[in-house]
Amino acid sequence: MREFSAEYLRRTREGMWVDSREALSALGLDEREQVLDVGCGTGELSRVLDAETPDDCSVIGCDADLDLLTTASEYVPVVAGDALRLPVSDGSFDLVVCQALLINLPEPSAAVAEFSRVSSDLIAAIEPDNGAVTVESTVDAESALADRARRAYLDGVNTNVALGAATRDAFEAADVEVVATARYDHDRSVTPPYDESALRSAKRKASGEGLADDRETLLAGALTPDEYDDLRSAWREMGRTVVDQIGDRTYRRTETVPFHVTVGRVDA
Ligand SMILES: C[S@@+](CC[C@H](N)C(=O)[O-])C[C@H]1O[C@@H](n2cnc3c(N)ncnc32)[C@H](O)[C@@H]1O
Repeated sequence: MREFSAEYLRRTREGMWVDSREALSALGLDEREQVLDVGCGTGELSRVLDAETPDDCSVIGCDADLDLLTTASEYVPVVAGDALRLPVSDGSFDLVVCQALLINLPEPSAAVAEFSRVSSDLIAAIEPDNGAVTVESTVDAESALADRARRAYLDGVNTNVALGAATRDAFEAADVEVVATARYDHDRSVTPPYDESALRSAKRKASGEGLADDRETLLAGALTPDEYDDLRSAWREMGRTVVDQIGDRTYRRTETVPFHVTVGRVDA
């Protein structure tokens, strides 16, 4: 199972669903009674669900990673479990939902089938299309390099991290009728004054640490070791320019990650 740190989830979810919750409208959150957030991680989505559902609705987070669940448990009740064998009985929730879980599973439709076992009404998946991420930056080389690194990662990773709108196929393969789809663009901007996380991210670019962490995945695709070294060296140079621009407070960057919301209804 792919592992995530609490810090990574905090950083990448910052500001998500703050600007608009319109794309969640088909989940009918204001009339839910029992909601299960599968692969909840630190509970970033669970908190949004808890805020949008009635006071007497119970929102429960579920994850296989016990460390992440400890953080989630500060916000909602949690249960440890595998998305493919949920530790709950048939039809016990009227909404089973996940965010950025299916992209990490080799067979997303198997999880959707399990969701439909434990839901009496709706299931929903909010999945990014990491192949369509865009980056705008005051550092000229950053957008093209981010694109190059992303392509190499997508080529080497062993699950479909660009699932996005194709989540519908996983629902159909699990015999779940899709009743609505929507798109939410999560914009993450770095502007002065820079916070701790922006400073850390700039340092990681300048040291090439981020690419080094993903080296194995990057080399599992078509990228050769020489091409990896070239990419990392250009990346570090770009990172040094980011650090310089941060020093004179001129650095600005916006990354947009498209998330696709797929909602299905299970047979009564
Ligand atoms: C990218 S994180 C998303 C976390 C959270 N939903 C969010 O959007 O912030 C994916 C989560 O799925 C969990 N996960 C991966 N495979 C799992 C499985 N088979 N069963 C349960 N949880 C799983 C991971 O531990 C991680 O917390």
